[in-house]
Amino acid sequence: MKNPSVTAALIGCGGIAQSQHLPNLSRAANIRLKTVCDVNADAVAVARKTYGVPHGTTQSGEVFADPEIDLVVVATKEDFQVPLTCAALAAGKHVYVEKPLASTPAECEQVIAARAASGKIVHVGLNRRFAPACRDIARILQKRGGATNIYARISDAYWDWGKSNPPGIRVIHEVCHVFDLLRWLTGAEAESVYCACGRPDDEIYTLKFKSGCVATIMNSGQVTWDLPKERLEIVTREYGALVLEEFVELKTYGCRDEPVVTTYAGHTHPGGEYTHKPLFAQLGASALEAFRRMRWEMRLRRDSGELDGEDAELQRFMDQSFPHVNYLVDKGWRAALEHTADCILGRATFYGAGPEDALAASQLAEAAIRSRESGEVVRL
Ligand SMILES: NC(=O)c1ccc[n+]([C@@H]2O[C@H](COP(=O)([O-])OP(=O)(O)OC[C@H]3O[C@@H](n4cnc5c(N)ncnc54)[C@H](O)[C@@H]3O)[C@@H](O)[C@H]2O)c1
Repeated sequence: MKNPSVTAALIGCGGIAQSQHLPNLSRAANIRLKTVCDVNADAVAVARKTYGVPHGTTQSGEVFADPEIDLVVVATKEDFQVPLTCAALAAGKHVYVEKPLASTPAECEQVIAARAASGKIVHVGLNRRFAPACRDIARILQKRGGATNIYARISDAYWDWGKSNPPGIRVIHEVCHVFDLLRWLTGAEAESVYCACGRPDDEIYTLKFKSGCVATIMNSGQVTWDLPKERLEIVTREYGALVLEEFVELKTYGCRDEPVVTTYAGHTHPGGEYTHKPLFAQLGASALEAFRRMRWEMRLRRDSGELDGEDAELQRFMDQSFPHVNYLVDKGWRAALEHTADCILGRATFYGAGPEDALAASQLAEAAIRSRESGEVVRL
């Protein structure tokens, strides 16, 4: 007998859709991707052709009017994510919507109200909770009395890919992932935030959680592509420590009942399916670092004219055979979507990030911005 599946539509066929949601939706065993929608007709055509999606439209209203659609995945940008989510809920659909859900806490509250009125699931794409490495950390923390001290770094070439955004907004766009991960790992709300800013998007935050855990976040949008993007260092209440490098290698210290090193094979991606996984599985962070350095080096050599930018083989290597470095590792994107479908099918109880979690992340970002402006600790 065929496995039951939910019928889904994707609204927004841009960067994250092409890197993650389209391949993941078309491969998930419990999801059938019926429709893709984008205001850009070319993006719809490319998505349909690449993934064999039966229907395409530029009108989101068509998605909401289709009685066959159970789940709407929204990946536009925060200016449209709230109205599209509310419209989908009003049409009786479940929703998976990308982070940041909204620009302000008040908009997150609109979604909370719309979700309550509909009784449907709203899963916000704060997907780090579903990364296999983060699930291992959560399990270890549970056994060791939780975390007392955390350092988290989220840094990348935002000056490059995020340059159309106003300076200082990365705390809303990117640090929301870390705020959510810290709340989830500590099982607690933050009681205070302090932000020290060197230059826009180069910031340090200090947070105190109600569990007693203190955390430092380094947020930098000013580094180069070769540095792995995310790192966590955690001190556990019962003597021990955990260090996670970019979701690909977890080291434990003082935890004799855990492996000293665990490596994670990473994400699979069309066109780069088998490139890196065996190396990541065997070598962990050193393989990831070599891949990132190689990619950065090739870009520098191409941009300086040392390599022929028109060379077809180089272009294929840069664009297809080697997926975007931030998507080489498994940050839980696919598992988050599959969990949403399992909840709709009644096979699982929802444990993803809901709109309340998006609200908490948005409130933390707002408090961090207030601290940045005032130079004072902001109490929540
Ligand atoms: N969870 C993650 O790790 C992760 C990673 C990257 C991006 N994101 C988030 O995903 C969202 C999308 O980011 P992106 O980089 O793909 O952006 P993008 O600009 O590349 O793509 C957005 C797409 O949505 C379409 N669109 C915009 N408004 C629309 C509307 N009203 N109806 C239909 N289509 C519409 C655009 O034409 C575009 O094709 C953002 O909120 C971003 O923060 C999340």
